[in-house]
Amino acid sequence: MAVKEKGLYNLIHKDKKNDLNPEEILSNIKAERFSTKQIERIIAWVKELEFWEDYGEVYKNLEKAKPYSNLSNVIRGFINPGLNDTWLDVGCGPLRITEIICEKAQEKACLVEVHAIDIVLKPAEEKLAELKKGGKHLPVILEHLSITEPLPYLNNTFNGIGANLVLPYVTDFLGNKGEKALEMVLRDMFRILKPGGELIWSTPKSNVNFNWVFLASLPDMFNLYRYIVDRDFSRLLQGTRILKHAIAIQEKGKNGLYTFLTVEKLEKLLSKIGFVDPKWKKTFSQQVWVNRVQKPL
Ligand SMILES: C[S@@+](CC[C@H](N)C(=O)[O-])C[C@H]1O[C@@H](n2cnc3c(N)ncnc32)[C@H](O)[C@@H]1O
Repeated sequence: MAVKEKGLYNLIHKDKKNDLNPEEILSNIKAERFSTKQIERIIAWVKELEFWEDYGEVYKNLEKAKPYSNLSNVIRGFINPGLNDTWLDVGCGPLRITEIICEKAQEKACLVEVHAIDIVLKPAEEKLAELKKGGKHLPVILEHLSITEPLPYLNNTFNGIGANLVLPYVTDFLGNKGEKALEMVLRDMFRILKPGGELIWSTPKSNVNFNWVFLASLPDMFNLYRYIVDRDFSRLLQGTRILKHAIAIQEKGKNGLYTFLTVEKLEKLLSKIGFVDPKWKKTFSQQVWVNRVQKPL
């Protein structure tokens, strides 16, 4: 009988709850007995973790440019929380989706609770600290979790899930890769959604070209007014660092490490899993599809 592969987190981190550093993981490899396949998986994982840690240093600056605000607005149009809802923000980064969920809930005078998960929580922690300084509070619970294995939530837990630009970046789900890994992540989202719950997620289009996003961001990167008013002198430098990461993501998509499928293929996959009523909108300089699907009642 084939041995069931463990999830990466289960393999390395056990009960650790804080951000992990790559050195710690690599020293664990030496200390523990792993199969060759497991070592390959862990080393690939460390590279991913380093990539996201590095991107996390500059990612929030994307919010300063028009393409990202267009993307947020499309997501905002799909998110519709109800009274006493519990939502999940997957791969939360600097918590933009959590903010949108909370703003929409406030507009409707609804109380909501949001769980926000990521493998790198520093950007989320920094955002909360910044909001706190301005006297603002988000009803969010941060959790250090990875979508490379089933999430530790019971079936039918969430009223809604927001997952902006994260699900197609899964490189390994219990040892499965590529399209299979994406399918397993989507299945896990389906499992933890309540009947009637909605998944709002996004994916780069199959032949994505992030150079268009960079070009469309140039006016904001050179915005002299913001340089003077915000004394924000980092725009240009951070814009180019963001482009470097975006191009790396694009290449990983071409190499099959990340999975960017066509809408036709995704619709088939989502319907095979059981999702219904798909709605799509293209945004982010026409390079990203936002999708809203429902788990039937
Ligand atoms: C492109 S950013 C998107 C951030 C945020 N969702 C937003 O709306 O801007 C991708 C995020 O996914 C996180 N991520 C990458 N792999 C992950 C994994 N296996 N599990 C959970 N989060 C992951 C990264 O750390 C990063 O914060």
